[in-house]
Parts: sequence; structure tokens; C-alpha cells
Amino acid sequence: MRRSQTRILGIETSCDETAAAVVVDGELLESNVVATQIEMHQRYGGVVPEAAARGHLTGLVPVIEAALQRAGCDWGDLDAVAVTRGPGLAPALLVGLNVAKGLSFARGLPLVGVNHLEGHVYANWLHTHGGPTSAEDGRARALPPVAAAPAAQFPLVALIVSGGHSDLVLMEDQLRYRRLGRTVDDAAGEAFDKVARMLGLGFPGGPQIQRVAAQGDPTRFPLPRAWMRDSYDFSFSGLKTAVLREIERLKEPLPVSDLAASFQEAVVDVLATKTLQAVHEFGARQVALAGGVAANARLRERLQRESPVPVLIPPVWLCTDNAAMIAAAGYRRFQAGERGGLDLDIAPVWPIA
Ligand code: KG4
Ligand code: ZN
Repeated sequence: MRRSQTRILGIETSCDETAAAVVVDGELLESNVVATQIEMHQRYGGVVPEAAARGHLTGLVPVIEAALQRAGCDWGDLDAVAVTRGPGLAPALLVGLNVAKGLSFARGLPLVGVNHLEGHVYANWLHTHGGPTSAEDGRARALPPVAAAPAAQFPLVALIVSGGHSDLVLMEDQLRYRRLGRTVDDAAGEAFDKVARMLGLGFPGGPQIQRVAAQGDPTRFPLPRAWMRDSYDFSFSGLKTAVLREIERLKEPLPVSDLAASFQEAVVDVLATKTLQAVHEFGARQVALAGGVAANARLRERLQRESPVPVLIPPVWLCTDNAAMIAAAGYRRFQAGERGGLDLDIAPVWPIA
């Protein structure tokens, strides 16, 4: 007899990605559809909340249909709908949450509200089927193979670094977090985006900085690291200002690669050092990287080289915003008995702990 499975539709619209995905038992990825609004936001040099919401409004239903179709499943095969409640842009969150509520009501499916940051953490345990069958029946279409990560071992230190957040978190058990530190100003990804803009690189800035930094000298400009009096908090605005000063001081043509490499090194140095400090202090058994900045090759490399315990890192395409991670975290919440009613509301400001 086949073990009964829990199949969850995830919906994510907290920022500028319109995303839906189908995940079985919180880990097995059956489909993952992400429609990005990057082109629209490139014109403005950033994300405009109302424009993002309009994009979700027209894009979300087709994205959900594509996610179901690629998973080869029907509404009747689903057990619940998980949706991002926050944190994020209020107009953007509203669209996803209301579509999810409508679907939940119309299809008689339980609704689960998910914290976007918790979603990023749970992206670490997503994997695909592997094996030949998934490729043969076409279900794995557009899904690169992902091997299963080792099971979570607690306590675990999670570094959640994205365009909106930089949190260092101690995860004591499934769904249980203690926030050790956060950014007091810019998020790490935001700093990447702003510095990229100063250097005349495109949006989003992280991948562009990483690309040009590969040709640069990370030691050329000794940029400041904000250690925040040995706390686990972060600050990146001073670093950003220091880069601006260098740009003003230097003559054209700017040594863009060296500036990018020196900036990236300063950010990675602080993120990696504080993460490893927390591993030692709390006797962590694993490190989990999460969020868009976890895509950064230099950050991955340093943590993997220097950590005394295993470092989990999702593949790049699961580090940036997606709905599979929302379905994954939603599964844990669903198993814990959480259900959202039709009065479930968005939570634009919602710390993970
Ligand atoms: O998690 P995410 O997709 O969206 C938010 O929830 O904010 O993160 C987006 C952020 C952007 O700031 C982007 O510049 C950054 O992640 N990012 C990177 C890299 N790829 C994306 N930062 C550094 N290096 C990268 N390779
Ligand atoms: Zn995110």
C-alpha cells in the first residue's frame, strides 16, 4: 500500500517574483514556477510595490495553473494551500494571500500562512525525485536535479540574507527559532544592490557584483567591517558610504572589478565570521544558508571551507524567492496543526523570532 502523502501548493508574492510550486511531504519538489518581474523593475532601478502587485494580479493564476500542470496533478490531489503572509510588500502580499484564500474556499482546501524567512530556511531540504521515472514522465521538466540534503540536526545556525533581511538565527527544533542578530540598517542584498548601482552595474546587484568581482582584487581597497561590538547584529550602511567615498575620490575610469571585489569581501567577511562565531558559542551541529545572498559564491566557499560542521546551501535557483520553500515550510506548519481562516491577514513586518 502506498504511504499517504501530503501534497501542498505553495504561493509566493511577497516581492517581485510571482511564484507557485507543488511539494510533497515538505521536501519532494514536483514543480516550481517563478515568473520574475525583473525587467519591469530594471527600468525603475528597484521594486515598486504597486507595480509588483499589478504584476502578481495578472500573473498569479497562470503561474498556479502551470505549477499544477507541471506537477501532473489536479486540485483533488492537493491537501492544502500554503501562502506567504509576510514579511514583504503589503500590496504584493495582498494579492497572493487573497488568491490563496479564494482557492482554499472554492476548492475546500485548508489554508496555511507562512513566514517568508522561515520559507527561505526550509528551502535547504527541498529535493527532486532523481531517478529516471521523473524525467520519463515529463514531470521533472524545467526542474534541475537536486539531491536530498542531510536531515536537520539541532541546534542549527541559519543565516538568512536577502534583499530585505539579514538575520542570524538559532534554530532549536523544527519551527523553533531564536534570533541572535539582525541588520540595524541595510540588508546584505540591499547593500549589494545599492553598490552595484553606484558602480553602474545592473539590477539585481548581487549577481553583477559577483560577476565583476571575479576579475578583481579583493584586497585593493581596505573597506570597513562593522563588527557591532561583537554582537550578532549587522550593519552595512557604513560600508556602502565608504564605497561611495572611494568612487568620489577615484578618477574615471573606475576600477569597478577591484571595488566590487573589495566590497564583496567585506560583506562576506562579516557574514561568515559572525555565523561561525555563533556555531562555536551555541554548539551548532549544522549551518543552513538561506535567502538570495546565499547564492553568493564567495560566501558559500568561505563557509564551506571554514565551518567545523556541515553547511547546507540550497541550489542557487532555490535561494532566491520561490514558492517551493513556502510549501516546504507550510508542510511543517500544516503537520503542526496550523490552519488559517478566511480572516487570515497579511503581515508585512514579521520577524522570524
Ligand atoms: O531572497 P531574495 O530573492 O529576495 C528577497 O526576499 O529579498 O533576495 C534577493 C537579493 C537581492 O538583493 C540580490 O542582489 C541578492 O539577493 N543576490 C545576491 C546574489 N544573487 C542574488 N547577492 C550576492 N551575490 C549573489 N550571487
Ligand atoms: Zn526572499
